[in-house]
This record gives sequence, structure tokens and C-alpha cells, in this order.
Amino acid sequence: MAEFDLPQRQAPDSLMLTGFWYRALPASRVHRNQLHKAMLLEIPLVIGRDRAGRPFALRDACPHRGMPLSGGQFDGEIVECCYHGWKFDAHNGQCQLIPSLTVDQNLKVDRIYAGSYPCEEQDGFVWVYMPDPGPQGAGFSKRDEAPGPAPRIDKYGIEKSGETLQDKYNLAYLTAEMPVSIDHGIIGLMDPAHGPFVHQAWWWRGRHSIHEKQKNFEPIPNGFRMSTHTPSSNSAPYKLLRIYAAADSITTTIDFALPNLRRETIRAGKYWFSSLTTVTPITRNQCRIDVVAAWNIFRWLPFSTELLKFVFAKFVEQDRRTMELQSAGLKHNPHLMLIDDADRPAKWYFQLKAAHLEAKRTGSEMKHPMSGPVTLKWRS
Ligand code: FES
Ligand SMILES: [Fe+2]
Repeated sequence: MAEFDLPQRQAPDSLMLTGFWYRALPASRVHRNQLHKAMLLEIPLVIGRDRAGRPFALRDACPHRGMPLSGGQFDGEIVECCYHGWKFDAHNGQCQLIPSLTVDQNLKVDRIYAGSYPCEEQDGFVWVYMPDPGPQGAGFSKRDEAPGPAPRIDKYGIEKSGETLQDKYNLAYLTAEMPVSIDHGIIGLMDPAHGPFVHQAWWWRGRHSIHEKQKNFEPIPNGFRMSTHTPSSNSAPYKLLRIYAAADSITTTIDFALPNLRRETIRAGKYWFSSLTTVTPITRNQCRIDVVAAWNIFRWLPFSTELLKFVFAKFVEQDRRTMELQSAGLKHNPHLMLIDDADRPAKWYFQLKAAHLEAKRTGSEMKHPMSGPVTLKWRS
């Protein structure tokens, strides 16, 4: 990669990537036999759960005349539009009935489809697969299937006679909407230099604790990894973890992968903490951050879930507030300045996105912007 003395200027394209799974709603908010509105990538969705508890996602527009299906009836199996009573299978969107048809009118009802999306529940969230916009069949096309399952949080078990037993773990989530594009949401998430200024707290660290850091990164499919390392000794959570394991056996790994996945894993002996944070594009100018964490650390501590949520909520709120302020400055679409090395992850993000789109355009394999391991240095 060429090095410039001048900081790199870059405009975010705010392009929302299709062909990926996205978190749509916390699973606890989606009740049986009810319809809920959601929006992903500027597409309005209606999300529900059938009688058996299985979630589904339809485009929130009737293929007849566009009435939002979320305003209709749902009996746990069939969604009925409130305008002319057309009925659709909740899972595949296939039309079941058009009440206005007379017996001698032979319109092929079962060839009509409401827009339908692959939908899965995973680690406390309802995920929806957003396909590439294909040739529009205008209500006559079946849905695209997802190439694989929705992302999951990595969880670690105990090896026992060749088998991995899943230990008990806690699970919690936090969510916050931010009035910025997906690009700003994501580069804000991976930015190491804002910590001492945005995330100050007496129990965490102050801005005067700023010091030089050096971290190794390596390419992974669709993204990059902050290589597994023993965390710096001056941060509070790592001091706590020493209860469990020798300092040098504590490791942390952070991955980022397109379109929006940040995984962080901390391991200390048989104890682990694992999170999957996503930044989801709602519209071009709005995104939502969802942090979901699973852990078997400190489960004995009363209120450990509440404590963790409290700490995370502080962090997320600080980021949300920062991006709310930032959005005022971004309104007039200024160029960005990305500097080495602190903004290198942000540069990789833009390069990965461009490489992904280029591979899609040409039908060739994606050319990863990193050719091998890289060491970055910054003060934070
Ligand atoms: S708009 Fe839905 S049935 Fe007519
Ligand atoms: Fe932050």
C-alpha cells in the first residue's frame, strides 16, 4: 500500500450492502400471532412469529396495491391485507386467496407472492437476509434463499472425552439508534482513538492514561483480525480477569467482517466472554448498533448481567451521543480525513467494501486489500 504524507481524503459512499444477513429486531419484542414493523436498508418489513413460534419477514407492502401488510390481520399462519382481504402465507409470501374473484374467474392466485425474506432467530435477535435486488417479478417471484445461516456468537464449551460440552452461559443485548450512515456507524465502532475522549469514566480510565499502543492485524475472509494477544494490563476488566487465570493466559481477539460484524472474544482458562456487535443500516442516514454478549465469566456474581449491561449501556450511550453530535457536522457531506495508523482499520473497511462490490460486479473472487499481517501503532 502506498504511503502518503498527506492524510487520505475520503468520502463515504453510504452504500448499503445487500446479499447479507442483518439483525432486524430483538427476539423478545416479536410476539406470537402479532405483526411488527421494521426497516432494513430502506426496505419496510413486517416481522412476525407464527403459532409455533417461528419468525418470518415479509415486505411491508401488499403486492396488490401496496397497502402495508403490518396493518392487516394475522392468525398465526396467514397474513390478510386490510384493503381487499388478499391472504398470504406468512413464511413464503404465496397468495392463498383473493376474495373478489368469482368462481368462473381463473386467475392463478398461487402464482402471486408478497415479498418474503429468509428469517432466523439467533442469539436473541430476529435476523433477516437481504438479497441483492434481482429482476423484479412484480409480485410473481418467489424469494431468494440465503446462502448460509445467520451469524452466531462464538461460544466455547469444555472438552470431555472428545466431545465439546456447552457450558451454561448468560446472554444479554443492548441496542441504540444513531442518526448517521452505516459507514460512520462502522468506522466509529472500529476507531481506537476516540476512547480516551469519549469513553471516560473513573472506573474505566481517564484521558490522562493515554499511551502508545501497538497491535498486530491480519486478513480474514471478508475482513481483518486484531490478532490474538494478551490484553494491556492497565484496563479494569483485565485486572478483574486475573481472578480466573494467569495474566499471560488471558487472550483477546477482535474480528471485523463485512458487512457489519464485530466479534470480540476474551478467554481466560475455561472462562470466556464473547460478543457480536452489528451496525445495521436502517436508511441511508440512520443506523442501529446492537451489542449482543454471551459469557460464562462471573456468573456466580449476583447481578452480573445487570452490571455488564450497565457498563455496556454507558459505552453505547457515549457513542450514540457522539454520533448524534457528529451528524450535525456531516449534514453537508464534508470529506473525511483518515490518518495512519489510527484510521487504518477505517481505510480497510472502505477498501473491503470496494473490493466486495468489484468482485460482485465482475463475478470474480474478491481481492483482499491486505496482503498479510500488519502492525499498527497509535496512542490511545
Ligand atoms: S392492497 Fe392488499 S389486498 Fe388490495
Ligand atoms: Fe466507542
